[in-house]
Amino acid sequence: MTTHDLYTIPAEHATWDVEMQGASRFTWEYDDGRDRLLSLYQKGKDKQWDQVHRIDWDIEVDPHDVLGLPDETIAIYGTPQWDRIKGDRRAVGELKQHMTSWQFSQFLHGEQGAMICSAKIVESVPDLDAKFYAATQTMDEARHAETYARFLQDKVGLLYPINEHLKALLDDTLSDSRWDMPYLGMQVLIEGLALAAFGLLRDMTDKPLPKQILAYVMQDEARHVAFGRLALRDYYAELSSKEKEEREEFVVEGCYLMRDRFRQQEVWQNLGFDVEESMRSVENSQYFKLFQSLLFSRIAPCVKDIGLFGPKVQNAFADMGVLDMAGVDLAALMKQDEDLADLIDMEKQELLVRRQEVEKTIAMADSDIPEQSVSA
Ligand SMILES: [Fe+2]
Ligand SMILES: [Fe+2]
Repeated sequence: MTTHDLYTIPAEHATWDVEMQGASRFTWEYDDGRDRLLSLYQKGKDKQWDQVHRIDWDIEVDPHDVLGLPDETIAIYGTPQWDRIKGDRRAVGELKQHMTSWQFSQFLHGEQGAMICSAKIVESVPDLDAKFYAATQTMDEARHAETYARFLQDKVGLLYPINEHLKALLDDTLSDSRWDMPYLGMQVLIEGLALAAFGLLRDMTDKPLPKQILAYVMQDEARHVAFGRLALRDYYAELSSKEKEEREEFVVEGCYLMRDRFRQQEVWQNLGFDVEESMRSVENSQYFKLFQSLLFSRIAPCVKDIGLFGPKVQNAFADMGVLDMAGVDLAALMKQDEDLADLIDMEKQELLVRRQEVEKTIAMADSDIPEQSVSA
């Protein structure tokens, strides 16, 4: 069986080729690096993990209820379309499976994009400290893609092709010859949004397997966003106002693309729902509105921090109702992400010790039973 057998809508068999742009840069300066970037690089090396060992793949998952989220989180909940299916638990389960599959498939394709973008940063960024760091990130993203692929293949059992909005943003990001654009498109916009989506699902789900996966991936992503901020803050401080404006336009366009990405149009279409009606339901869904605004909780403060917070960006954020998000304390959020992954590790360790104690007690009790009573 290949992954193509699991795509619910056929995905292209040919590779998607984005023409290479810009130069591959070498530097002969092997000494001085920026302290904060080098310590981020050190952390990147220290914190590598392997899904084979760290994730409890034995945990069973119900493909119709992967995340255990309430029905109210489905955008068409309470509409006439919902009334038609709500009595049929199989149909509701199927819809939930498709929505989760769509969501995690976009995470998976995004992770592949992140791997390719960070590899491109290794090539194009002028300084060695940034090249070193981006090399660890390339490995991080490979591990994330591997993890999401396994989750989708083995547990969800269904995949969706890449969403056209995500594809368009990846295309814009990769086909620009300016070396800072993969940072801005990938590290700030795509990663920032993905991080917020991971965080929302991590906090909402009570299912241990997706919770582990999301928490561990987020532990790494916190470093990636920090990298983008560090590198771009320095660089953007030196740009002319025209150059800055070009970047701000890219941010505005990217944010609208990202916002539209989460409407899951393909799912409604694929399952035979009335697409127009479903899109209206998505627009009006209270849950979706909240989800959508929270998605910008990582992008908005980052964009402000790197100095791309001119009138165009502020107007766009106001239009999307997410201007307040620019005040979010990003450092505190990322510290929380790291602590939560450590906490899950600790809980797993405690559980393991307890299980070993129980097994030891049972083994001792068994060895205490006289042979006669065993044979009797
Ligand atoms: Fe990632
Ligand atoms: Fe990342």
